Amino acid sequence: MNIFISANNTNCGKTYATLKLIKKFSQMGYKVGVMKPIETGIDKYPVDGNTLFEEAKKHNPALSSLNLNDIVPIQFKLPAAPYVAGTADLKKIQSAYKKIKPLCDILLIEGAGGIRVPVRRKKEEEKSEKWRVESGEFQVPGFKFQVPSSRFQVSGSKRMENENRDWIEMWELSKFFDAKLLLVISSKLGMINDFLLNKYFLDSKNMDYLWAVNIFDESYFKITHPFLKQFDPLILQKDLDKIAKKLLGE
Ligand SMILES: Nc1ncnc2c1ncn2[C@@H]1O[C@H](COP(=O)(O)OP(=O)(O)O)[C@@H](O)[C@H]1O
Ligand SMILES: [Mg+2]
Repeated sequence: MNIFISANNTNCGKTYATLKLIKKFSQMGYKVGVMKPIETGIDKYPVDGNTLFEEAKKHNPALSSLNLNDIVPIQFKLPAAPYVAGTADLKKIQSAYKKIKPLCDILLIEGAGGIRVPVRRKKEEEKSEKWRVESGEFQVPGFKFQVPSSRFQVSGSKRMENENRDWIEMWELSKFFDAKLLLVISSKLGMINDFLLNKYFLDSKNMDYLWAVNIFDESYFKITHPFLKQFDPLILQKDLDKIAKKLLGE
């Protein structure tokens, strides 16, 4: 299975959460693989991808047959949204995916930035109906995944059609991989607003996702939890077992 890790923003704990999940799933006996399909702000090498790769190799030695460019197939220099930093080739991601996938039971895929970060302009053929969620099917030319219709309701496609945008967004990559989406919300001040906006958006797309709070410091319990508790938040540091089980669909 594939799990796509996103967050309310950059620097909110995607890599941190992914590292925790590598360890947790490995302890549970799963072979874990990692991918950071697009990393921007590259100086000498992709730092996030490297961090994830090194940790994953410790638990799953089979990954040693890969190299860092497989883990991070798209690398751009400019520290910006992928849309701005370069032109991401999804086929390159697909090739890397095909190498990694057979080596693991669970593939953890770290996104870049937050869920609505623009990935790149849609190509002409991706503007067609096929790009949209229809009959539970999501297609990118040359990369097709069947998405169980129970997870993505067709009603979402109407909204997407109305949206009429000509760029691909990060949250759509989770469907590209047919992945379960984990949304990490950092406990920094402002997170309630971020959480509600993210929730509103994902719910409007009928997305199936799990979210968890990443506690940076204990002030969360005083300044945020009194409001957020009504949503029964899972806490990354406290509820990792539960999070892992839910991601596995248990
Ligand atoms: N719960 C936490 N407590 C303290 N520091 C954290 C916590 N979560 C993340 N960090 C640190 O914050 C920075 C950003 O986290 P990171 O996982 O790299 O975010 P992202 O991958 O979303 O950009 C890193 O230096 C990381 O080590
Ligand atoms: Mg990161």
